[in-house]
Amino acid sequence: MRFQSQSLNRREFLRTSAATLVAGTWPALAGPAFPLPEKNVRYTSGSPSKPQRIILDTDPGVDDAIAIFLALRSPELQVEAITPVSGNVPLHFTLPNALRLIEIAGRPEIPVAAGAALPLVRRLVTAAYVHGNNGLGGVEFPEPKIKPAAESATDIIRRIVRANPGEITIVAIGPLTNIATVLKADPAIAPMIKSFVLMGGSLSGGNITPAAEFNFYVDPEAARIVFDSGVPITMVGLDVTNKVLLRESQVRKLEAAQNPVSQAAGKIMRATMSRIKPTKDETVVAMHDPLTIASLIDPSVVALKDHYVQIETSGEMTAGMSVGYYRGPVRRSPPMETGIPEEPIPTEEYKPNCKVAVGVDPDQFFRLLLPRLTANA
Ligand code: BDR
Ligand code: CA
Repeated sequence: MRFQSQSLNRREFLRTSAATLVAGTWPALAGPAFPLPEKNVRYTSGSPSKPQRIILDTDPGVDDAIAIFLALRSPELQVEAITPVSGNVPLHFTLPNALRLIEIAGRPEIPVAAGAALPLVRRLVTAAYVHGNNGLGGVEFPEPKIKPAAESATDIIRRIVRANPGEITIVAIGPLTNIATVLKADPAIAPMIKSFVLMGGSLSGGNITPAAEFNFYVDPEAARIVFDSGVPITMVGLDVTNKVLLRESQVRKLEAAQNPVSQAAGKIMRATMSRIKPTKDETVVAMHDPLTIASLIDPSVVALKDHYVQIETSGEMTAGMSVGYYRGPVRRSPPMETGIPEEPIPTEEYKPNCKVAVGVDPDQFFRLLLPRLTANA
């Protein structure tokens, strides 16, 4: 299979300038902090023999909607609960959107538990300019008939993980407020979580600021708690998600298929394509969240590389930036001048806390996505 390299040529840059509008306004201009030699990249392969049990934390969101559909139409995944959070739009949209989406997918038995309305300590920043005022591209779907679970997102995550220690992967494709709230409320739960698989971050520039990817930007303190948790993490960030770009021909395939999921996905993507500002180049939509789901279904769609990732929370311009080291030493910013000479610059032993997706095969991703959404269930 072919993995796209980290560097963007001019044509790719023009394409991703439009594509990144799905979450923000900053194309990924900068290269990775360090070169990523091909020989160090570890390609994963294989598919699960039994369904992976996941909790899906999400802020639907146009690409979240496609991700939810993909997860619900994939027998390799067993979705135990969906936990909406504020992000692309406020919770009072993301919660009913999640209910609508599982209803459209014919999976009303999956519990949907309301999460956080606000980031841990910051004001909520949304991306309605991309996702539409209602988060589904402005497409009006009927009010959901099903109701949210009686439990909160925090309670349902704690209950399910505690009842199944080591079994549950938490897949988070929105800001990490719900996950951080769980870890704060119940620190002993961390070793019981199998892993976090996150759509978020970037080692090659952001999409909402030059430094930060949207999900980590919205709640940097939450992202920091997650990366400090000791739970195994896979980070599927803009380095790869900006390379999986849905095109007009693929939207037409969604529209042509005659099943409720494909029809809904087609409407949402059609509306998103018309919202994205036309450029001289093609209009495309980055499939950030669906790629994250695809990486669980078929790990060989991405190439992973060990990193130590930390989240910047104190910068005036860089909050939410993910800083990744693929080797040590890990250096912090220099200490302030105190007048006392010979204060050493703090360094830490290098210990990876995360596998970062550094390569992707976009064709393989679309070969997985489209048949699953267009098939008659
Ligand atoms: C992420 O931000 C959101 O707008 C998308 O849904 C995705 O989760 C991309 O930066
Ligand atoms: Ca999202």
